[in-house]
Amino acid sequence: MKRLIIIMTALGIASGSFAVYASPKEDLKIFRAHFKKRFPKVKFKDFKDGIYALDADRRAAWLDWEDFAPPYTDSIDLGKKLFRKKLKSGKTLASCFKRGGIGIKQNFPYFDKAQGKVITLEVAINDCMVKNGEKPYKWGKGKLAAISGYMAYTSRGKKIKIKVPNDPRALAAYEQGKRFFYSKRGQLNFSCADCHVYNPGTMARGMLLSPALGQATHWPVWRRKWAKKAASKGDTGPTAGLGTIQRRYKGCNKQVRAKPFKFQSPQYRALEYFHTYMSNGLPINGPGLRQ
Ligand code: HEC
Repeated sequence: MKRLIIIMTALGIASGSFAVYASPKEDLKIFRAHFKKRFPKVKFKDFKDGIYALDADRRAAWLDWEDFAPPYTDSIDLGKKLFRKKLKSGKTLASCFKRGGIGIKQNFPYFDKAQGKVITLEVAINDCMVKNGEKPYKWGKGKLAAISGYMAYTSRGKKIKIKVPNDPRALAAYEQGKRFFYSKRGQLNFSCADCHVYNPGTMARGMLLSPALGQATHWPVWRRKWAKKAASKGDTGPTAGLGTIQRRYKGCNKQVRAKPFKFQSPQYRALEYFHTYMSNGLPINGPGLRQ
């Protein structure tokens, strides 16, 4: 409890008030230092591997799974096909992105000054669909996740570089995300930080908790749990186990019996902005594999 209070104070989150005391850069420094202290043996770059950076047996099993035909492979092929498909306008998705959309995932989400909003990669893809005369994809999984998975795949190894530009609206979005992350919610009254900042490395409901540092590097993720759920509905296709980071946010909200927010709501966009910023400097390694 004492440590919790110290960290919350250090992050400028005094009891009940969420005034801006620290800049994003200062927040990041404190955040990294916390995990370094908690896991002195884990190298900074290894935090990208979530629980597999903490537990040798689980890591070995996971590496086997990755080496031997990881189940997300077909989704990358599908994503590539959809990414290159001609849209009604005659253009492809590549036309909406810098560098033709290749190797750019590390810059998402970003704050768009013209729109005054946080733009996640999935929003950018769907905006592009609409701009080119097509219907947007459904959020959270399926084809949209396959496309963002392909884009993540082309960005593997690039270090996350989220920026909070000197614009009060960008800073407000960052602060909103930070507040979300540290606010207790749901019947169980847990914040994201309670599990992923103050208790990573311990067990919750039979699962090892991952550190928040590095949680944003490997999306979308192919999960056994999601694949099972899809299979129970007859879907064993290339995207069956795939989900975006916001699908995971919903799951973690439900775990504490809080009502999840809508995909790409201002709340989840702000959360993804803050949360991804906290993984700055770590390499993209999506799509990922998880239980
Ligand atoms: C009651 C504890 C609990 C709370 C609160 C919680 N989570 Fe989780 N979360 C888990 C568990 C358990 C897992 C699965 C094991 C793991 O990777 O941590 C998980 C997994 C995740 C993952 C996937 C990690 C990976 O490497 O793939 C992300 C991202 C995540 N949580 C984000 C959040 C966010 C953001 C919040 C707040 C909205 C939150 N969690 C709240 C328990 C929690």
